[in-house]
Amino acid sequence: NPLKLFFLSRHIKCFIIFCLCLGLIFLHKELLMPYKPCRAKTNVMFLKTHKTASSTVLNIMFRFAERYNLTVALPADQLVHLGYPKTFLAHFVEEFEAIGQNYNIMCNHLRFNPSEVKKVMAANTFYFSILRNPIRLLESSYVYYKDNVPAFRFSKDVNEFLASPMKYYHLEHYKKNMYARNIMWFDFGYDNNAEDNKKYIQAVLKEIEQNFHLILISDYFDESMILLKHTLCWDLDDVIYFKLNSRSQDTVQTLTPESEERIKVWCSLDWKLYLHFNQSFWRRIEETIGLKELEKEVNRLRTRQKELMDTCLLDQEAVGKDDIKNKAFLPYQSGDANILGYNLKQDLDNMTLRTCQKMVMPELQYTSYLYTVQHPHKKRKILPLPLASFQEKTQLPTPN
Ligand SMILES: *[C@@H]1O[C@H](CO)[C@@H](O)[C@H](O)[C@H]1NC(C)=O
Ligand SMILES: *[C@@H]1O[C@H](CO)[C@@H](O)[C@H](O)[C@H]1NC(C)=O
Ligand SMILES: *[C@@H]1O[C@H](CO)[C@@H](O)[C@H](O)[C@H]1NC(C)=O
Repeated sequence: NPLKLFFLSRHIKCFIIFCLCLGLIFLHKELLMPYKPCRAKTNVMFLKTHKTASSTVLNIMFRFAERYNLTVALPADQLVHLGYPKTFLAHFVEEFEAIGQNYNIMCNHLRFNPSEVKKVMAANTFYFSILRNPIRLLESSYVYYKDNVPAFRFSKDVNEFLASPMKYYHLEHYKKNMYARNIMWFDFGYDNNAEDNKKYIQAVLKEIEQNFHLILISDYFDESMILLKHTLCWDLDDVIYFKLNSRSQDTVQTLTPESEERIKVWCSLDWKLYLHFNQSFWRRIEETIGLKELEKEVNRLRTRQKELMDTCLLDQEAVGKDDIKNKAFLPYQSGDANILGYNLKQDLDNMTLRTCQKMVMPELQYTSYLYTVQHPHKKRKILPLPLASFQEKTQLPTPN
């Protein structure tokens, strides 16, 4: 029947046209919104500032380095920091002469010096750092460095110190006193005793913006981790953490409202640094992730964190230094602070145990461990910890 055939062919024609249209729509969508899977950035430099939750970030960086077999710029020989508080020089890095500009990750304490850091890190390296509200920071610094910092030693408490800081703070002790005034300014490589001058501050802020791609804010730590993950195209598990190097609540001193106001003046360089980058932090979030998506992702992070804590931890939370059973995981202790650590569950399978150990491993131990893995022919680091030989006391692989 020719009529039937006609209709059939019409149907076929319609079908073909429909298909073509569909294809065109998809093609068009592809061209307009190309699906761009991002690739995780693996060349990353983290400027580790003091008393800003940066030990937790260092742990994240080390775990990431291990996951991707990256080369970490570690402190040379028996150094535990990259020369801090000296201004950074490339030869503070182990095997710099042999490895040259081929390190992927750098995150141990150093005093920033861009020209020397660039000798170590590849040209396409991503630079970031973290800042904390100077009010909280100074109180934390006071307790942690009470015995080490001349300016802190002779005052009764942080409020007494702030009532008349110049009574205790003497410029000739500048090499140890940076913890007492504008410590973040100092860590970024600038003069923490410089005069508060608008033009000077503007110039420094501009320079930091040129040198760093991202500045995180530790007062919004989970939000910071989400922004970091997005910016570096990392997985959620890469930024899951257990809070490291925190202190017990009973060693926190209460600042009077007057003291809080005094810190803004006493550490005015840091205060302005913080205000500036707190603003740009939130602006960046709004421009990239958006507040709604941020909240969702922060919740995802906290759920996953809780999951891992349930898997790994005996006590569900950090414990005081005297309650840490395996002394191999005892964090370095300082001043009047009781620095907390973790106990792991017994009977974890080998894979889980490995993951959990890495998450609770304090900074010095992890630095020393990676050093032994990366530089097997060098003498091991002797740590300023009660347990001299860390590897023997854990089930971590001992490199031959
Ligand atoms: C890292 O190195 C190990 C051992 O050499 C290898 O098995 C693994 O596939 C590497 N992983 C990556 C992400 O390159
Ligand atoms: C930091 O930014 C947030 C969001 O804009 C704001 O709520 C907060 O008050 C800021 N912190 C300071 C110390 O200005
Ligand atoms: C787990 O590690 C222990 C000690 O290193 C080893 O004796 C055991 O065979 C390992 N178990 C598995 C399942 O790999």
